Amino acid sequence: MCRINQSCRAREVHSVILNMRLMTPWCSFLVFFFLLLVRDIASGADHNITPSEPLFQNQTLVSSGQIFELGFFTPNGSENQYVGIWYKNLRPSRIVWVANRDSPLASADRSAKLKIGSDGNLKLVDGQQNIVWSTNVSVQSNYTAAMLSDGGNFVLKDKNSIEVWASFDYPTDTILPNMKIGLNTRTGERRVLVSWKNDNDPSSGNFTTGITSETPPQVFTWNGWTSYWRGGPWDKSTFIGIPNMDSSYYSGYAVQQDPLQGTTYFSCASDNNSYLAYASISPGGILALMIWDYGSNSWLKSRASPSNSCEVYGTCGPFGVCNSMNSPICRCIKGFMPRSKEEWNRGNWTRGCIREAELSCQKNTSRTPSTQVKKDVFVHMNQMKVPDSAEYLSDIGDVGGCQSWCMNNCSCLAYSYVHAIGCFVWAKDLIDIQEFSTAGQDVYIRVAHDNTGMSTQEKLIISTSTILGIMFEGTAIFGLWKWTASKRGKMSPGNAWKDQLKQDDASELTLFSFSSLLLATNNFDATNKLGQGGFGPVYKGMLNDGKEIAVKRLSSSSGQGMEEFKNEIILISKLQHRNLVRLMGFCIEGEEKILVYEYLSNKSLDSFLFDSKRKAELNWDTRFRIIQGIASGLCICIAILTFELSIEI
Ligand SMILES: *[C@@H]1O[C@H](CO)[C@@H](O)[C@H](O)[C@H]1NC(C)=O
Ligand SMILES: *[C@@H]1O[C@H](CO)[C@@H](O)[C@H](O)[C@H]1NC(C)=O
Ligand SMILES: *[C@@H]1O[C@H](CO)[C@@H](O)[C@H](O)[C@H]1NC(C)=O
Repeated sequence: MCRINQSCRAREVHSVILNMRLMTPWCSFLVFFFLLLVRDIASGADHNITPSEPLFQNQTLVSSGQIFELGFFTPNGSENQYVGIWYKNLRPSRIVWVANRDSPLASADRSAKLKIGSDGNLKLVDGQQNIVWSTNVSVQSNYTAAMLSDGGNFVLKDKNSIEVWASFDYPTDTILPNMKIGLNTRTGERRVLVSWKNDNDPSSGNFTTGITSETPPQVFTWNGWTSYWRGGPWDKSTFIGIPNMDSSYYSGYAVQQDPLQGTTYFSCASDNNSYLAYASISPGGILALMIWDYGSNSWLKSRASPSNSCEVYGTCGPFGVCNSMNSPICRCIKGFMPRSKEEWNRGNWTRGCIREAELSCQKNTSRTPSTQVKKDVFVHMNQMKVPDSAEYLSDIGDVGGCQSWCMNNCSCLAYSYVHAIGCFVWAKDLIDIQEFSTAGQDVYIRVAHDNTGMSTQEKLIISTSTILGIMFEGTAIFGLWKWTASKRGKMSPGNAWKDQLKQDDASELTLFSFSSLLLATNNFDATNKLGQGGFGPVYKGMLNDGKEIAVKRLSSSSGQGMEEFKNEIILISKLQHRNLVRLMGFCIEGEEKILVYEYLSNKSLDSFLFDSKRKAELNWDTRFRIIQGIASGLCICIAILTFELSIEI
């Protein structure tokens, strides 16, 4: 019904309309919809393993839409052989599941097979007929068959097509859309991702990613039993410790917690197999979200955690705060000092900080008349990743209640009122605190009054020295800026990047200088600010030629590294469409990472589509043309631009 370029397998443009309605992008700001429609839905028997048809080593089982493939594989340089699932047509392929990761077959064994045993279970048997691996469930029916779905789920079904076992219930190191991880405290089931030992050894490695059973749950990566990374508490749409996990980008994420059943599960929903993405934990402990880009035929990394040492759990120790923009990255909370000055100065912060003065509420007050005891005060810190080990007070519904609860209980060391969740208080050492440059929470920490009260003279000394310091720094920075500006030759990172981007097909982008953007936005003046997104503020600006632009200044501690930034530029520039807001260029100078968009006063496409008043302005003919345009571009529809700009502009 429509002509779409040949590489596109899409058949139904209608589904685009549906998809646009469902543009609740999954898992990342890079979500796109590849119009991949399931082919050959009626799968034949050749897609199944049945009691009479085992899977031999020279065979594979392919999902009906040719997306996933299951078979035997031997990793590079390994003497072992495994049964696993990988993407059928993608190169490099990626193994997403391994059946027998901890009980390998010898790679020399050429007569192993995967069969359905007499008890209805799947069994992997070696050349000597020893059972190496089995699904090991109780099967009521006398007939079962196993098949691989286009979502990557290997399922064993009985003769009534009731699922008796599914690989999705036994993840290895990878989570696919619609897969769940979590736990059941009643049964003790713990469904987690466990890293490979190394790139060529699928056996269970050191790192585990899962969620906790606390309320609200947190996402964690553990190294053995030690915390390695913490994504923070779930606020019903995001994990608030992941700085750029903007709720609107992640609306496919869901956490279901049932305190009665003792279950907590996390999943990424996908209504169909419209895009290819996975998240996995690497042998080195990095949790990465990858999305397949059909344009460059490669996996793009959209986020990795931890992405800097501030994101590693407890880098600054108890009562230490980490800020990746500072040098050194760790400092003590106001009113605290390093436990060991010497270690701290050596850059070993793990022992953290201790109080400079005892809390007056903890002092034995019988000796001093209470009128002389100065009450403790709370230090306010903003844009924070809330510390670990919080207690959640579900019955307190406002900031004031949270504050007074904490003030009136000496065991309460800190509190924070998180709007989408409620009142958190802390009674244990505050650990894994990070300072973000945008978003984050307000946290109030109890300290002795002595720490904040100081004499006027002291204040005076401090303020003069601060002013002098600022003046000095200002001069130095200006000098440095002049110097780097004069030095900025063809090897500046921006230019080097532009060359690289050229190869990546994004060459029509302009490389802006930071100074030109300063000029265009009147030094990022607050009056030019259009909005604030999870990634940083967006400003309106005007170029020399009078062209209006929207400038998105990515916060440096957004967790987005250079690689991710580059990927974002490539993806946006590939995916952009004339009906959406156009990316004009970018700027990379020092710590600055900036995206420059065309400024559209009309806002974005989806504000047209989903705003009931303006909907009328778009007739079906126009819509159809937009859709066709999108579809013919790359066979990838995107939500990213519509979303980004509708939120942030
Ligand atoms: C195996 O090694 C070859 C050559 O080094 C490489 O091209 C290939 O991607 C590797 N395969 C895997 C699965 O690592
Ligand atoms: C940092 O200090 C801790 C505690 O004193 C010690 O166990 C650890 O080995 C030190 N790490 C380094 C890298 O020195
Ligand atoms: C004070 O706070 C601690 C820690 O949160 C809690 O266990 C205790 O029950 C509180 N005491 C009162 C009287 O609320």
